[in-house]
Amino acid sequence: MYPLIRPRRLRSNEAIRSLVRETILSPSDFLVPLFVVEGKGVKEEIPSMPNYYRLSLDNLTKEVKELWKMGLRSVLLFVKVPDNLKDNKGSEALNENGLMQLAIKTVKNACPEMLVMTDVALDPYSSYGHDGIVADGQILNDESVELLTEMSVSHANAGADFVAPSDMMDGRILSIREALEDEGYLNTGIMAYSAKYASAFYGPFRDALDSAPVDIKNVPKDKKSYQMDYANRFEAIRETQMDIDEGADIVMVKPGLCYLDIVREIKNEVDVPVAVYQVSGEYAMVKAAAEKGWLDHDAVMMEQLTAIKRAGANIIASYFAKDAVKFLG
Ligand code: PBG
Repeated sequence: MYPLIRPRRLRSNEAIRSLVRETILSPSDFLVPLFVVEGKGVKEEIPSMPNYYRLSLDNLTKEVKELWKMGLRSVLLFVKVPDNLKDNKGSEALNENGLMQLAIKTVKNACPEMLVMTDVALDPYSSYGHDGIVADGQILNDESVELLTEMSVSHANAGADFVAPSDMMDGRILSIREALEDEGYLNTGIMAYSAKYASAFYGPFRDALDSAPVDIKNVPKDKKSYQMDYANRFEAIRETQMDIDEGADIVMVKPGLCYLDIVREIKNEVDVPVAVYQVSGEYAMVKAAAEKGWLDHDAVMMEQLTAIKRAGANIIASYFAKDAVKFLG
C-alpha cells in the first residue's frame, strides 16, 4: 500500500522535531579562542574577523567574566607578540613574565574555575612566522620540539590546565608529556592538534597575530612541510593515533567544515574526546556574506556548528561561541 512509512510525520511541527532531534548544541560544547595583546584598555577589532578583538589583559579580565556568566567555561589563549620580541627560536615564549604567562594568570585571577588552554607553537614568537625553528630553508623538528616542550612547562608553571600544541612537529606530544610528568604536572592535560591541515582558511588568524610566514629567501613560504596535505585521509588517522599513543588527552581536527569526513572517521576510530577547530577563515566567510546580506548569519552559524557536532566533535573551538550561546538564549 502507498506509503505506510511517512518520515514526514516526525517533521510535521517543532514539538516533534525537537523531540527527535539528534544533535543539540549547548554552551558546554564550546572552547573560546581569545587573542591577547600588550597594553592597557586595548580592544582592537581584527579587520578580517568582524566583531572579534585583540584584548589587553585588563579587557581579558572583563571578557572571561562575561564568558563565565554566559556559561562558557573554557578558553584557548593566543598572544600577539611585538616584532621586537620575535626571533628564530621564539625565545620570548619562555619568558615567565611574558604575555602568555601573564594572560594565563589573568584568566585564573578573574575566574579561577575557567579552564585555560594555551596555544603551543612558535609562530607568534617567530621572526619568520613558522611554528618551529628555521634553518637552511627547513623547519627543524627535534630542536623545535625541545623549545615547544619548555614552552609547555612554562605554561603549566603559569597555571594552564591544558597545553594545546598546534605545531605538527613529530614526537612533540611524547616529549611534552614526559616533561610535564617530570615537573610534577601530572594533571596538566594535552589537547593535541593531531590532524591539522595546511589550510588557506588560517588567513585571518595570521592577520590577528601578525604571524604569517615571512617572504624572505631561504624561509619556506608555507607550512606544508609540517601541516598535513588536505588531500589526505589515512594520514589523519595515523597522526591522531600517534598522538594518543604519545599521551594526548584530547585530539583535534582542524579546520572544521571542509574536514567533517575526517572528524567522523577519527571519532569512529578513537576513544578520547575529539575537538574540532572552526577556524578564522570559516568565521570570516560567514561574517562577510552576512554583511552583504547574502546569507542569514545566525541560521548559517547554527547549521555549521550543529554539523560539526553531528560529525563527531565533543568540543568545538569557535569564534562564534558567544554568538551561538546568545542565539541559544
Ligand atoms: C599556529 C596556529 C594557527 C591557528 C591556530 N594555531 C595558524 C597556523 O597554523 O598558521 C589557526 C587558527 C585559525 O585560523 O583560526 N600554530
